[in-house]
Amino acid sequence: MRAVASAPGKIILFGEHAVVYHKPALAMAVNRRARVEVEETGGDQIFITLPDLDVEGVLGPGGELEFSGTGKVGILNYITQAVKLLPVPGGLKIRVKLEIPIGAGMGSSAAITVATLTALTQLRRESLDKTALASLAHQVELEVQGAASPMDTAVSTHGGLVYLHGQGEVENLELPGELPLVVAYTSYRGNTGELVAGVRHRRDLYPRVVDPILEAMEMVTQRARKALQEEDEEVLGDLLNINQGLLDALGVNTPELSRMVYLARSAGARGSKITGAGGGGSIIAYAPGKTQKVLKKLQEEEEAFPVGLSHQGVELED
Ligand code: PMV
Repeated sequence: MRAVASAPGKIILFGEHAVVYHKPALAMAVNRRARVEVEETGGDQIFITLPDLDVEGVLGPGGELEFSGTGKVGILNYITQAVKLLPVPGGLKIRVKLEIPIGAGMGSSAAITVATLTALTQLRRESLDKTALASLAHQVELEVQGAASPMDTAVSTHGGLVYLHGQGEVENLELPGELPLVVAYTSYRGNTGELVAGVRHRRDLYPRVVDPILEAMEMVTQRARKALQEEDEEVLGDLLNINQGLLDALGVNTPELSRMVYLARSAGARGSKITGAGGGGSIIAYAPGKTQKVLKKLQEEEEAFPVGLSHQGVELED
């Protein structure tokens, strides 16, 4: 028997870092997915391949993992952890196709985890509702990474535009139209744990300075929710730029990210900002009617591609 599931990657539009302090965040599922095929085989080994990353692994019956390839083998841990939580008797072949760049802050590990758990659930002839699935996937991320917010797995599971309330409640927002964005990413990625710790350190040192920044981020996210629903391009652009300034004030910007942010704006983006933890990784640019121009400009310097909203969360495929 064989099961195939796919799940989208994500970008954070507003509220990264502030979300750690129970402020709201807005994130969206993007039209780039992880596709996971799981096939039952005889034997007792689990073969895992991710051809796009040149990563392969074999999980033996005793839980020992052997890996090969030139890519980032750490990604295998999410899959083996998922198999540990939802075991299937006998051997398996697991093949992952990835359209999401790895290490760019676009939730590739969450998408792989959510899709793997869904395919395994199908093989076990069980079903999980989306809330239970998102929470199981978050558990996998916590076990592999030590710390992770529930945002990536929630967005990958539910799809669409997600408003994460300060207390962790996930709300899917309806968006009347499209949301064309360009993502550009640097060749290295910041370490999320270290960046979060850096913000905490500055907050401990200067609480009366940093707390108002986090509160301003909360106001930006709340206002952005309204602007998105009203399709107010001008306000949305302004809020992205304000959010960028606040992230810079928190100390997570870098000269490379800043350069891309301003490059995008000079090419016509209405707004642009870091997306995710910062310190490297990606920026997003919002350029209604000028996406191609901004894309071309960013591609002269870094890897860049257009992304759109994906309404489709995790799904089983034929
Ligand atoms: O590293 P990313 O792109 O998954 O973003 C991390 C977002 C933070 O708010 C900085 C941390 C978190 O756990 O929410």
